[in-house]
Amino acid sequence: MGSPFDVLRVDPDADDDEIKRAYRRRAKEAHPDQGGSVEEFQRVKAAYEAVLSGRAEPLEDADVEDPAADPGPDEPERTEVEYLNYEVFDDYGWSLDDEDLFERAADAGLDSTDYGRFLVEPAETLLEAAENRGFAWPYACRGGACANCAVVVTEGELSTPVDHILPDEMVERGIRLSCVGKPLTDELSVVYNVKHMPDLEELRLPPRPFERAQDD
Ligand code: FES
Repeated sequence: MGSPFDVLRVDPDADDDEIKRAYRRRAKEAHPDQGGSVEEFQRVKAAYEAVLSGRAEPLEDADVEDPAADPGPDEPERTEVEYLNYEVFDDYGWSLDDEDLFERAADAGLDSTDYGRFLVEPAETLLEAAENRGFAWPYACRGGACANCAVVVTEGELSTPVDHILPDEMVERGIRLSCVGKPLTDELSVVYNVKHMPDLEELRLPPRPFERAQDD
């Protein structure tokens, strides 16, 4: 046990940026692939949530919760997601700023791995929905502490939990985390695999073992 500030190894008087940086550093240290463990990672995550919510109290096990467990009040029944793989952009000379990006993708005859649609059920995060429909989208921590699962939302909205790691400027550009994000609109268009964007390099963690095998 200990105060959330102790767990994050940050001064209680630290400002928001310092706390966010401390969380990012501790999340990396506690990551199972970096010599930490799932329990330690969850403890760091719970500490960050506690600090953000103003509860600077000793942490109990009950503070460790699944970020995807609460569906939230505004969720639609089901959401149709149109997806596009960022990795094909170079081949076609596309950019995220292209206004007709998804129209072009629909006409390009892409493989269903790279472009298509699927439905997200209310209990699913976007990443879970992709996996449940047979897709292997990238991820690492599954806890809001890296950018491996990042997507760019071009239409609709995907929820942004309070404890995520993304800088505000990226959120404003439509970048979201698919592992903790749930659709808030009936329709959603996302570009996935944007972890390869240079801006997100610093926020990435080592991939999970099966993902590593796919990247090989
Ligand atoms: S996999 Fe790390 S934030 Fe989603």
